[in-house]
This record gives sequence, C-alpha cells and structure tokens, in this order.
Amino acid sequence: MKILVLVLFVFIGITSFISMNDNSPKIEPKAVVKDTLMLDREKYITFLKDSLKGKETVLADSVFKNIKSLKGKSTEQLLSIMNNWGHALGVTCKFCHEVNNWASEKSRNHLRTREMIVMNDRLNRDLLSQMKGFRQPVTMGCISCHNEMKEPPHDGPRPQGPRPRPDGAGSNPGGAKN
Ligand code: HEC
Ligand code: HEC
Repeated sequence: MKILVLVLFVFIGITSFISMNDNSPKIEPKAVVKDTLMLDREKYITFLKDSLKGKETVLADSVFKNIKSLKGKSTEQLLSIMNNWGHALGVTCKFCHEVNNWASEKSRNHLRTREMIVMNDRLNRDLLSQMKGFRQPVTMGCISCHNEMKEPPHDGPRPQGPRPRPDGAGSNPGGAKN
C-alpha cells in the first residue's frame, strides 16, 4: 500500500511538473526584438526630453543644429516623429544617427531619410490626392511601405554589391547599421 501511494505521488509530481512547463508563457522572439528596439529608442527620447525641459514647444530649428526637413516643428514634435520613424522601419535611433552627435549626417540612412520625406510628400500631395473614388482621403507614411522593415519588399531583383551613399560620396563602411 505504502509503495502504491508513493508511486501515485511521484506520478502526480511528474505530470504536474510537465503541465506546469506547458502552461509557462511562450516567448515570441519577434516580440522581444520589438520591445528591445522600443526600449532603446525610449531611452534616448527620455534623455533628450529631460535635457529639453521647458523647451517642448520651442521650434526645433532654434534648439538643434541640423534641421532641414522638419523646419517649423517643435522639439516635442521632432522627438515624436523620430520615434515614429524608428517604429516604422523597425530600428533604433542608431540606424540613422551617431547617438553622441545627433546633428551628424555620417549615416547614409540619415540622408536617405531626407530623400524619402521628399518622395513621400510628393506621393501624397501630387499623386494620391488626385486619385478619385477612395472612401476617405488617403495619405501614405513611412509605415505604409516599410511596415516595420528597413527595406520594403522590392518589385524586381536587388542589385548586388556595396550601396552608394545618397549624397554620392561613396560607400560608408563605418556607418551606423542599426
Ligand atoms: C529613419 C532615420 C531616423 C531615425 C530612426 C531617427 N532619426 Fe533622428 N533624425 C533623422 C533625420 C533625417 C534628422 C534631420 C531632420 C531634418 O533635417 O530636419 C534627424 C534629426 C534628429 C535630431 C536633431 C539633430 C540636430 O542637432 O539637428 C535629434 C535630436 C534626433 N533626430 C533624435 C533622434 C532620436 C532620439 C531617435 C530615436 C528615437 C531618432 N532621432 C531616430 C533621422 C532619423
Ligand atoms: C512608397 C514607399 C516608401 C515610403 C512611403 C517610404 N519609403 Fe523608405 N524606402 C522605400 C524603398 C523601396 C527603399 C529601398 C529599400 C532597399 O534598399 O532595399 C527605402 C529605403 C529607405 C531607407 C534606407 C534603408 C536601407 O537599409 O538602405 C530609409 C532610411 C528609409 N527608406 C526611410 C524612410 C522614411 C523615414 C520614410 C517616411 C518619411 C520612408 N522611408 C517612406 C520605400 C518607401
């Protein structure tokens, strides 16, 4: 009898251990990567927000050194746009910046972004707004193409080899990758 009870206990122990493992929350690697990127971006945003206390509504041009595409935005709006770009491309600030020198244009993605803004504005202003018959006015943003990817799917083969810098200054092997 004693042995039977012991066997029963061991059996219950093993099955509950297995089911405990089964019920443990499943970790989605993709979600973890996403959270890590978000936390990394927030770290820099919080740091910059702290250093800009009281200047939230001031024009970004008057505080930062290298504003060309976002003239007329407040510092608060600029930081929120930065976070949105990071989210739209699934990247951290480092993808476009040297984080100890925000004004630097060393990253080819920084320059590419300025070109993307021009392309995106023309797409909305000159083309999409002229198309008739949508149920509501349609505008596209970075997320429409990028959908949390650095490189949206191509229509056709990708060229091989190093990429040229958007400003034509040659490849940028030391540039920010992520
Ligand atoms: C997809 C590329 C991209 C990402 C990602 C990005 N930035 Fe930017 N950032 C730019 C570009 C381009 C400018 C210049 C805007 C202009 O010309 O008006 C800029 C400008 C800035 C400036 C002003 C720099 C100066 O002194 O002129 C700050 C500060 C900044 N970004 C912070 C951030 C932070 C913080 C993050 C992450 C949360 C971030 N950026 C993510 C592309 C990016
Ligand atoms: C109409 C579609 C479309 C829109 C809208 C768009 N992009 Fe792009 N973007 C692309 C394509 C296509 C590429 C080329 C990807 C490649 O090289 O494989 C690209 C490349 C880039 C790159 C270079 C990435 C790399 O790895 O070389 C950056 C940075 C970028 N886009 C930022 C932006 C930002 C920021 C916005 C919003 C202001 C934006 N894009 C809006 C289609 C778009």
